[in-house]
Amino acid sequence: MKSFYITTAIDYVNGSPHLGHAYEKVLTDVIARFRRQMGDQVHFLTGTDEHGQKVQASARKRGIDAQAFVDETAAEFRALYDKLGVSYDDFIRTTEPRHKQVVRDILQKLFDAGEIYRAEYHGFYSTRQEQFLQEKDRLPDGSWPEIFGEVSEIVEPNYFFRLRKHQDWLIDYLKTHEDFIFPKYRQKQVLEFLKEPLNDLCVSRPKERLEWGIPLPFDEGYVTYVWFDALLNYYSAVVDKGLWPADYNVIGKDILVPPHAVYWPIMLHACGLPPPKSLLVHGWWLQSGAKMSKSTGGAVNPLDLIAQFGVDAFRYFLIREMNVGQDSEFTVEQFLVRYNSELANNLGNLVNRTLNMTTRFAAGVLPAAEVVEDPERELHELWTRTRDEVISLAEGFQFHTGIERTIAFVTATNAYIEKRAPWKLGKSAEPKDQALLRTSLATMAEALRLAVALLQHVTPGTTEKINAVLGYQPGADWPAELQWGPKLNGSKVAAALVLFPRPVAPDKPA
Ligand code: ME8
Ligand code: MG
Repeated sequence: MKSFYITTAIDYVNGSPHLGHAYEKVLTDVIARFRRQMGDQVHFLTGTDEHGQKVQASARKRGIDAQAFVDETAAEFRALYDKLGVSYDDFIRTTEPRHKQVVRDILQKLFDAGEIYRAEYHGFYSTRQEQFLQEKDRLPDGSWPEIFGEVSEIVEPNYFFRLRKHQDWLIDYLKTHEDFIFPKYRQKQVLEFLKEPLNDLCVSRPKERLEWGIPLPFDEGYVTYVWFDALLNYYSAVVDKGLWPADYNVIGKDILVPPHAVYWPIMLHACGLPPPKSLLVHGWWLQSGAKMSKSTGGAVNPLDLIAQFGVDAFRYFLIREMNVGQDSEFTVEQFLVRYNSELANNLGNLVNRTLNMTTRFAAGVLPAAEVVEDPERELHELWTRTRDEVISLAEGFQFHTGIERTIAFVTATNAYIEKRAPWKLGKSAEPKDQALLRTSLATMAEALRLAVALLQHVTPGTTEKINAVLGYQPGADWPAELQWGPKLNGSKVAAALVLFPRPVAPDKPA
């Protein structure tokens, strides 16, 4: 078995999760489930990023202890991912001892090797915002914007990680590993960024300014800069499992440059470890053209959509709508269009017809197909093409197109039913018509079974429910499940299943 280690970004727990966080975890879950179905030994890691200024500030605002605060908010993120059926094998929290220990060991190792050094940091500091300012933060007249309050020039000893020293190595690595970043064009953006000399990275924060972090092992007066801590989760979680390097670190485009494309490979290289094999970079969910975010308000709470439409309709929409790597505007109208036209009226309709007609014309027991004429032949051929195409699209993360092809196959199956019109065949006593009737029932049921097998990594709950009403228990060998055949012969089907209830008109979201 081929091993496949995949991770998500770990979310800051300074607020509640929104649709953007849910998307990343569902996308990674779809990849993990697909690889498992293809026979890989998958290890899927997700988790939460719990240290740093943002989290400390949110805890203080609530007037509670930082640890109590992160215990509560991390549980909220985790509960959402459980609800979404995210099939993670491990969930890491950066406040766990297993993580802190690895971070401290690595810091010590880099300090001993001279990769981290102490130096004076000169800069302008805003006490109100508790942050260092840069020249680019100044107004055109040279003054500092109002929001920073009083700005003072300070000199502070800090610890720096040698990024500059490894810049040429990184450039060379990117040039010789063209598939390091997906989509490919992002690799060029990184090389563009690397044309300017890198500054070494300040990896310490004095405890007077930030308490909520991992203390530096060689100077307990400081805590570790949150990115240096957070990135190491991908490694700390598997240090005793021998799984490094990861096959994919899945992240959003806002955290590619510099953290994942620059700090992260250089940190690993300085430790004598290989970079992850690939970074998979997704785009943003937008609202009115702007990135949906925790701080701007109005972000979509996944729980609301799940409560109304169910987990699988939500997962389906996220994966169907977004072309991995690009941005996508979220609107309830578009959600309803997909829900109604693809799920309720197309897939849901095929389920209803299959159950109704099998109940009505065959006492609920699926017969064997007896005839192969053009309509059957065409559907068989379309299936083979669809299956092969969807698998190869999934291998290249083109899930949205894969779903489109699968739904086109469902549409073709509904058209096949129209063509065969079992309700007419059922009125005829002719043996030829009766054979065609049995064939049409077997054909629509088998097409339905296959279509939902092909959707299994996207909508696992729906696939399971449909298999159950078809009286079918699928085997463990997924590719074998995708062969057209007589698997359902003699199966007893349920009379009805309400899968995607009450299609809602786009102009009146219920
Ligand atoms: O960046 N659309 O955490 P985070 C799509 N803790 N994805 C989005 C999104 C949106 N509107 N908003 C956020 C952090 N994301 C760090 C990561 S990893 C070692 C540390 C994605 O909570 C975002 O791109 O701000 C990122 O991949 C993830 O959600 C967590 O964002
Ligand atoms: Mg963010």
